[in-house]
Amino acid sequence: MGVEVRVEGLTKKFGSQVIWNDVSLTLPAGEISVMLGPSGTGKSVFLKTVIGLLKPDKGHVWIEGTDIANCSEKDLYEIRKLFGVLFQDGAMFGSMDLYDNVAFPLREHTKKSESEIRQVVMDKMELVGLTGAENKLPGEISGGMRKRAGLARALVLDPEILLIDEPDSGLDPVRTAYINQLFIDLNAQIDATFLIVTHDINTARTVPDNIGLLYHKHLAMFGPREMLLSSTEPVVAQFLNAQRVGPIGMSEEKDADELAAESGIDMPPLPPIPVQLEPSDGRPRRGQREPGKWCRDNGITPPPGSFGAHESLV
Ligand SMILES: Nc1ncnc2c1ncn2[C@@H]1O[C@H](COP(=O)(O)OP(=O)(O)OP(=O)(O)O)[C@@H](O)[C@H]1O
Ligand SMILES: [Mg+2]
Repeated sequence: MGVEVRVEGLTKKFGSQVIWNDVSLTLPAGEISVMLGPSGTGKSVFLKTVIGLLKPDKGHVWIEGTDIANCSEKDLYEIRKLFGVLFQDGAMFGSMDLYDNVAFPLREHTKKSESEIRQVVMDKMELVGLTGAENKLPGEISGGMRKRAGLARALVLDPEILLIDEPDSGLDPVRTAYINQLFIDLNAQIDATFLIVTHDINTARTVPDNIGLLYHKHLAMFGPREMLLSSTEPVVAQFLNAQRVGPIGMSEEKDADELAAESGIDMPPLPPIPVQLEPSDGRPRRGQREPGKWCRDNGITPPPGSFGAHESLV
């Protein structure tokens, strides 16, 4: 379970505005990938292009032999059944209560009876910690609860590919920790291919198998978590370590004066690479790699203190 998504040379424009150019990456089947990038770099547009809601100007999105960037509406409808999506704004139907919102894809795409639907809906509501809130309208709950309801809805069809846009915006740190653990546990359980867009650096550092960074109209880097967390490439190091020093400024790119003012300042040393979260039942996930393996295989010395917590656990 879990299918590969292969993105090739993807370019998206709105009118004359290039959002990103020539993006190529593969979301490995059954693995968790995180996409990072400053606000406005087109992460949400990327997600919508991967599911075929937006058409790219160039390039391909291959899923099980179909190029969903260039296929028929009929093929797209079929392929979409593989997806579960949590949009950035939750995209709930405002006039339906949470129960009906979460049940919607089941009523639309399956022939399940209402009692079977009830079972699935209540299971997913419990999974995201919303038991008891079934009869609330989206307008009556907090932003964080809406996110979790959106996640429950994204899960009801047991997707092979889960696209999740900023699950943690509007969530408090404790709930963010719970939802991060939930992603790891879900990935172990359903083995789907995950793509999570987030601004939360802690999530990016501890949850995914792979990390990508969109910056300045292109994909700056995409690869295994340890590759990005040990990278000294200025844009990558600045973003993943939430630093002010580096090429990224308040309006995306710093101008020459700002960069000149920083010329004597060194980038701070990279912090230790933390261990990746593991499933709470102790069973390894399919995509799980041994801590430090990528660094060892590639002759990279990780920052001092990396994977320390893991060693102290064993
Ligand atoms: N349907 C659209 N028509 C025209 N322009 C759009 C459309 N959707 C998005 N854009 C533009 O594309 C750019 C990228 O938007 P997007 O929402 O993907 O950014 P983002 O990286 O998700 O940002 P954030 O982190 O704030 O969510 C923005 O400049 C936005 O105005
Ligand atoms: Mg967005």
